[in-house]
Amino acid sequence: MIIYGSRYGSARIYAEKLGEMTGLPVFPFESIHGIESGIAVYIGALYAGGVLGLKRTLLHVDKANTHLIIVTVGISDPCIEENRVRIRCAVEKELSGFASFDIFHLRGVLDYGRLSLKHRAMMALLHKACSRNPGKVSAEDREFLDTYGKHVDYMDFSELGMISERIMEFI
Ligand SMILES: Cc1cc2nc3c(=O)[nH]c(=O)nc-3n(C[C@H](O)[C@H](O)[C@H](O)COP(=O)(O)O)c2cc1C
Repeated sequence: MIIYGSRYGSARIYAEKLGEMTGLPVFPFESIHGIESGIAVYIGALYAGGVLGLKRTLLHVDKANTHLIIVTVGISDPCIEENRVRIRCAVEKELSGFASFDIFHLRGVLDYGRLSLKHRAMMALLHKACSRNPGKVSAEDREFLDTYGKHVDYMDFSELGMISERIMEFI
């Protein structure tokens, strides 16, 4: 099965597309109460460094008998090593005890016009913090400052081919 954690739709759209490509059923993480062992795919949006819904979903996974495929959906560029390492570390922290997994990274959409009040406030605080020391920001923070307040769309379905091929090895 494919499970997704999405607040504004990017991770859901990727999950649905991957569902069409693989024939696997697709569910939001909020509806999950059990997961069959074998293969489980989790597509989750990144919020403040964590993957939305991942921790809760992993409680339902049989660690020893399931191959997990985790796909993160964020705005930072995973081609930049510093970003990729940060995301991987955050995900791997949640995966202790899992025998077998792959991690992939995709990019989504960030539309400030659609953000909830809470998310807008979080971004405003982060912007204030990054702006205080513009000479010392990371690659991720630099990109954040450049795109602050805008609508950016990095959705790219071409990477799904590789992910679906990996999934097909287990079904
Ligand atoms: C409050 C907030 C925190 C975010 N934190 C991160 C982050 O830590 N890393 C990242 O790459 N993207 C981050 N993003 C961008 C989202 O991951 C991106 O917009 C993603 O496409 C959202 O997926 P969704 O549409 O499925 O909810 C953040 C966005 C918001 C609003």
